[in-house]
Amino acid sequence: MKENNSITVILDIKNQDVWEEIKNAISSVEGFHVCDKALRVQNPGTYDLLVMEIGDEPQKDIQFANTLKTSGIARDIFFTSSNTNPDILIEALRLGAKEFFIQPLKKEEVKKALLKIKGQKEGKKGEGDSVKKGKIINVFGSKGGVGTTTVAVNLAISLLELEGSPSVAIVDLKPVFGEVPVNLNIEPAFSWLEITKNISRLDPTYLMSILYRHSSGIYVLPSPTELTDLAISPQPLATLLKFMQTMFDFIVIDSGQSLDQISQAITTISDKIFLVCVLNLPCIINLKKLLDTLKKLGCPDDEHIGIIANRFHRNSDISLKEAEESLKKKISWSIPNAYKISMSATNQGKPVCTIAQGTEIGKKFKELAHTFSLNNNGKMHGGTLKKTEKGIFPLSSFFGQRKV
Ligand SMILES: Nc1ncnc2c1ncn2[C@@H]1O[C@H](COP(=O)(O)OP(=O)(O)O)[C@@H](O)[C@H]1O
Ligand SMILES: [Mg+2]
Repeated sequence: MKENNSITVILDIKNQDVWEEIKNAISSVEGFHVCDKALRVQNPGTYDLLVMEIGDEPQKDIQFANTLKTSGIARDIFFTSSNTNPDILIEALRLGAKEFFIQPLKKEEVKKALLKIKGQKEGKKGEGDSVKKGKIINVFGSKGGVGTTTVAVNLAISLLELEGSPSVAIVDLKPVFGEVPVNLNIEPAFSWLEITKNISRLDPTYLMSILYRHSSGIYVLPSPTELTDLAISPQPLATLLKFMQTMFDFIVIDSGQSLDQISQAITTISDKIFLVCVLNLPCIINLKKLLDTLKKLGCPDDEHIGIIANRFHRNSDISLKEAEESLKKKISWSIPNAYKISMSATNQGKPVCTIAQGTEIGKKFKELAHTFSLNNNGKMHGGTLKKTEKGIFPLSSFFGQRKV
């Protein structure tokens, strides 16, 4: 069982004998915990140490390890391989791998390396994490057509206005035919499918070559525009989002309204989940079910989940108070029904907030974005993100002049 403060280790080793040997070596040193999860299959967590075997495709394995390290999924890396090609060794060490064990393994060598990691961790206690960790804001619809995409897009653009000019990306999570590009009136050439198919290639340059930069300043990662035969697994998408957290201050996700395997995995790594509804009976019923399901999925408390009543008008059949009583939860935000402005925005191919400055709906999106502004302690209102130093990448080289 995992003890508090133990050093968590994840193994990515294909050869069963090598796997056993490594596991035995780890068990012989106190203070380590080997996680049972298979890294390439399930939704990744974060681990102190990754032990990866370099197999027949060394480049691919080393790149994948690089992605995991950069995204903060694995802090330190040990490699092992039966391949003694010096080029591989150099490449692995360039990545900052702490050790490279040539097979056959020497147990004492592994133990010594583990003790070194333990010593380093103890020395670093209390230092905190210096990797940038942007906030994932997941916008989820309680029904189709309630305004999920509208909220996601306008929140993303409004976040750009916050102090410090944060970097913002929006991800359309629909498996196919997402609606974010339509709302922004853009036709991007690529989608997240290109990245998830090549997750071992992921690095900042590759990611930036796939993202579409909208004129507002947000970066868009659309969903696939064609049906694909590929079964889409949640793991590469979760890895991609964690990687994006090291590059952006905010990642807004349009999750649509399906609670499939992918969106279930993404809810578990979201910092904030907004459930969008309109005040009518079918929507409130769905919302109740959704709240129960999220609870079962292990999504924590009230602070983590916010309800947004969209297309709100004071004389609706169901009042805010009645909805709250039925849901046994406060409705955090109401966005007014603004039919004319919305129609005009749609016809101009522009997001509502860019043409509705000064109107009630424009102000509401601004206020919503402001709940994510930093207070003096570096804590977010309604959240727990710790603002750390700027990212490990020279972001300016990617972003250039962002605001237009
Ligand atoms: N607050 C609002 N007031 C008026 N119309 C709105 C509002 N929010 C969204 N709409 C309109 O409702 C329609 C559906 O919105 P959309 O964001 O695509 O919904 P969903 O993503 O939930 O399917 C769009 O035509 C949009 O312009
Ligand atoms: Mg939508």
